[in-house]
Amino acid sequence: MTGNEVRKKFLEYFKKHNHQVVRSSSLVPQDDPTLLFTNAGMVQFKRTFLGEEKRDYVRAVTSQKCVRAGGKHNDLENVGYTARHHTFFEMLGNFSFGDYFKEKAIAFAWDLLTNGYGLPADQLWISIYLDDDEAFRIWREDIGIPEERIVRLGEKDNFWAMGDTGPCGPCSEIHIDRGPEFACGPDCKLGCDCDRYLEIWNLVFMQYNRDASGKMTPLPHPSIDTGMGLERVASVLQNVPTNYDTDLIMPIMRKAEGLAGKKMSDSAETEVAIKVIADHSRAMAFLIGDGVLPSNEGRGYVLRRIMRRAIRYGRHIGLTRPFLHETAGVVFDIMKPAYPELSESRAFITNVIRNEELRFSETLDKGLTLLNETLAGMAAQGRTEVPGDVMFRLYDTYGFPADIVQDVVRDREITLDMKGFDARMAEQRKKSRSVVSFTGIGEAYKTLSASGVKPEFTGYTALSAEASVLLVVQAGKAADAPETGSEIEVVTDKTPFYAESGGQAGDVGRITAEGFEMVVSDTIKDPTGLIIHRGKIVSGTVKRGETVTLTVDSTARAAAARNHTATHILHAALRQILGDHVKQAGSLVAPGRLRFDFTHFSQIAPETLEEIEAVVNANIRQNVPVQIDEMDAETAFKSGAMALFEEKYGDRVRVISLSDFSKELCGGTHARMTGDIGLFKIVSESGVASGVRRIEALAGAGAVEYIRQTARTVRDAAALLKDRPDTLVARLEKHLADHRALEKEVEKLKARMATMTAASAGDEVREINGVKVLAKKVQADNPASLRDAADKFRDQIRSGVVVLGSAIGPKAMLIAVVSKDLAGRFHAGNIIKQTAAIVGGGGGGRPDMAQAGGSKPEKLDEALENVYQLIAGE
Ligand code: ALA
Repeated sequence: MTGNEVRKKFLEYFKKHNHQVVRSSSLVPQDDPTLLFTNAGMVQFKRTFLGEEKRDYVRAVTSQKCVRAGGKHNDLENVGYTARHHTFFEMLGNFSFGDYFKEKAIAFAWDLLTNGYGLPADQLWISIYLDDDEAFRIWREDIGIPEERIVRLGEKDNFWAMGDTGPCGPCSEIHIDRGPEFACGPDCKLGCDCDRYLEIWNLVFMQYNRDASGKMTPLPHPSIDTGMGLERVASVLQNVPTNYDTDLIMPIMRKAEGLAGKKMSDSAETEVAIKVIADHSRAMAFLIGDGVLPSNEGRGYVLRRIMRRAIRYGRHIGLTRPFLHETAGVVFDIMKPAYPELSESRAFITNVIRNEELRFSETLDKGLTLLNETLAGMAAQGRTEVPGDVMFRLYDTYGFPADIVQDVVRDREITLDMKGFDARMAEQRKKSRSVVSFTGIGEAYKTLSASGVKPEFTGYTALSAEASVLLVVQAGKAADAPETGSEIEVVTDKTPFYAESGGQAGDVGRITAEGFEMVVSDTIKDPTGLIIHRGKIVSGTVKRGETVTLTVDSTARAAAARNHTATHILHAALRQILGDHVKQAGSLVAPGRLRFDFTHFSQIAPETLEEIEAVVNANIRQNVPVQIDEMDAETAFKSGAMALFEEKYGDRVRVISLSDFSKELCGGTHARMTGDIGLFKIVSESGVASGVRRIEALAGAGAVEYIRQTARTVRDAAALLKDRPDTLVARLEKHLADHRALEKEVEKLKARMATMTAASAGDEVREINGVKVLAKKVQADNPASLRDAADKFRDQIRSGVVVLGSAIGPKAMLIAVVSKDLAGRFHAGNIIKQTAAIVGGGGGGRPDMAQAGGSKPEKLDEALENVYQLIAGE
């Protein structure tokens, strides 16, 4: 049975038993800051377990993408060295939300394993939580497992929690005895970490919610959460020794072998490297596919560690050129049947991987040299701890995560100064903190969302509706008839108001009833799907249960719709012109503007932007209808429709198509025909993060207004220059050239003037002890022209001492020169020092020339007069 078949059989078995087949959620958990990555099948159902959210079904089955790297369940450092640790894996799971509990969960699991997958019943062992007598009874009596094959284990093995807080409960695990040849020794028994008793399926009896203090509160309904690693059960069914030998991973390893020209059987080191590369290739392809980009913070940092670890292991087997994008290529081929959307992003993912490889390769060798030198130095001095400072430098300058250092010193008697490293890291992180925002459900909404209410959105087809008020909230609390003038939030059973999502801003408008009016300034959605209208009561008041009329501001909505459709066209145009590595990385669609972030690695030239704009406008003029189809998500992905990173897609999705030019999954509101947009204008292009660019643009009336204003500015500018707009640029160029020429001329004249001022004052020379001395104030506005003047002056008197001073703004400037023949007698540096002291400054210089400045220009005359005395006193 292939891995893909194992997955399919699991989903089909539970579907047959009335479970809803739910798509895997993203590896990036939605609105859950307590979790780095989705690490189990139950993550997307967390709120349902807690009773905060009600779904349309009470039984579900999934094959969930999981990453266990960083955070509570972290397996990164073990990968490559064991048979079954992975950063990325798929978890098969069935779930009951207050429906069936232990008995059925156990019966389903047993039936599927023994009858469905045909595993030998007498080789299956069971572990249960210490005092879970109920589970014992079911296994023993209902299923008929002999007592000696049911083992009671403690919290570490048989109590499962997603994280430090959240839903949790005792669990029961099913293990398969793979035979004595897999045993770790004579004492081998269930519970030890070796491969003989291999855990294949974990059935969690979700019963509690654990809070931050460790307190456990019973859940509203006992529930079931199960998890079976797909790769692991595939290894059992394919009868191969490790997960790596299954058809889910082996082809990637073969590819790595081929690229390196080595075989795993060559050496233990080669085998580890190939496994690391294969495992990490899967993780990076899926993480990037779910919108994580390598960076130095949070999720992006974990991804970077995974990628760099793989690159470094590649070096062990001679892979010095970028290779990961090729091994990741095999991942797309294997996973295509189950995750068609991954292949959709293939070009982009490949690009991100190659870029990271190129970046890291440049510094890897330098970093390794530094590390090896450090290790050699330590060995010479008999030290065994790598200093935190060195690790930080490796990290900061060469991009070496601490675990690469750990891997390098593995199996040596060397420790790492993690404390020192962490301290330096903490300092660094403080500087560039990224805040995870958590849009939790407000207390006031909990009861409503727990009751399973999902307001109906009627706004795709109508802009007004009558509805009944379900909840009025003021200052975070349920309110009854709040006063006129108050800021409130209102939830109704249906609404035409579009709630902010997918980048589109929430609708604005009014809610009215007899004697009541509220201006809605924003509409948002809470994580369970409640649509919340925010605004201010202008008159009267409102109560729960009342009927109100909701009316969306149609002008604002139409403007937002035009911008939204324009965004789709822009996305397609960018891919057409820049390449299909372009992927949306965020957007904002508001009535007045649109902003589109996308992945691209360099600045876009102005001519290319013009080309993009032209393609968008040509598509607008095609005036094709905006076609909207609802379909199930699987079909949509298979049709090649583009999906977005951060979006949470339900099982039914809307696909927006514009002829064959653009096809995207999107819940937003759109123009009817592309021609409705009228005009599209790019306003700016900039970078927002490494590898992410941003285009800001306008559509429709906003674009026309922008062009009108720009045209007016040009006209006004032309009028000022007494010219026409079409010759404005040439005229400005000429003006600028003239301006530069004039500036140069002015410089020259100023210098001449300073010289002339100095020269005309030549008759102030006094003769003291047979030496010609001139101390004089001149006009000079920079040191160079002062120097010029002094030189000219000295040339005039031939032999003598010249000291010049000038006031430049709030400063005094002085220069002294001594002719060569007097070099032994007078020192310009000494003269200037004493002179500058009087103007509140200092300075010095060579015997023949010295300059100084001072802060009291008003004392210049006094200082200069003093020069004559200085010379007289020699
Ligand atoms: N959530 C359980 C696990 O991850 C099933 O093992």
